[in-house]
Amino acid sequence: MNGFSVSATSPSNIAIVKYWGKHGNQLPNNPSISFTLSRCHTETLILCKQNANKNYTMRFLFEGKESPKFQEKIEKYLIDNQQYFGFLKGLDLEIESGNSFPHSSGIASSAASMSALVLCLLKIEKVVNNDVTPVDMRKASFLSRLASGSAARSVFPVMSLWGATPSVPDSSDDYAVPLEDVVHPVFKTYHDSILIVSNKEKSVSSRVGHSLMNGHPLAESRYATARKNTERLLEVLKNGDIDEFIEIAESEALQLHEMMATSNPPYKLMEPNTLKIIDLVREFRHNSKVPACFTLDAGPNVHLLYPDAFDAQVKQFIKENLLQYCHDNQCIDDIVQNKTNL
Ligand code: PMV
Repeated sequence: MNGFSVSATSPSNIAIVKYWGKHGNQLPNNPSISFTLSRCHTETLILCKQNANKNYTMRFLFEGKESPKFQEKIEKYLIDNQQYFGFLKGLDLEIESGNSFPHSSGIASSAASMSALVLCLLKIEKVVNNDVTPVDMRKASFLSRLASGSAARSVFPVMSLWGATPSVPDSSDDYAVPLEDVVHPVFKTYHDSILIVSNKEKSVSSRVGHSLMNGHPLAESRYATARKNTERLLEVLKNGDIDEFIEIAESEALQLHEMMATSNPPYKLMEPNTLKIIDLVREFRHNSKVPACFTLDAGPNVHLLYPDAFDAQVKQFIKENLLQYCHDNQCIDDIVQNKTNL
């Protein structure tokens, strides 16, 4: 075995039931369910050369440039989890990574980047061991979770559930499980138009946000609601009840931001235009009967979710009514991913 290379593409995901609060080694305090996206993804290539040392070396380039911040993050991940990466010994790794979404969109998807990295690492393991069997996606989800919690959900197409849930026997806090086989066809056609309200880096990172859930006076009731919403959403995903889907998605989004507003210290990531867009989406739904709804990540950007059958109407609504509230009129049109990452 001389030099070789591996590559992987992995998408971002958008949670409907949100993961917010964790314990131990990246274990969630409640289960979460997400759509896997297709257009917002990370592509990673790793060039591997054998060296004469007992250890490995690693150099990371993001979109062609050195990135000390990411380099440090990956180094820490590989050291913290070295029991899983013994196969890297004796290799020089040059990691090149890039995102499909614009630099300045304010979307920093650690879910996409960390799951793409993990898929590459597992492909290296296969080469080193001369193993031609496919990568085990459950293991990919497990190792992605250790890098960034929500990354656990990015390795499966359509939708994933991460977190032990009584009605799903093989669900676990350790890794996500695919929901593709139980999801009603309408949800496989969903669009996510991401309205970029701001492209600035968040004032409070998700890492700090999760930690502020420790000792939060509303934490236990939030976790109980999330568990209930997980079970409700699983039912909705089977029966295709879009009205109930909308209710769950919007209340989860607002609750996530309520947790931020009531933490100690309190903070807010929504911007005036976030609220303006939310109001307009609700008004549009009420007047047109188009079942479009919003969700939010830990940031000001609004994810507008709707079935493909309403694509033309929603796109027109976005153009005429929402783009004016977006930074540089920016909206990223994404759609649920229906194929696997490998
Ligand atoms: O995976 P993290 O640590 O970046 O946390 C993600 C948290 C949310 O995006 C707000 C919710 C979620 O479930 O993805």
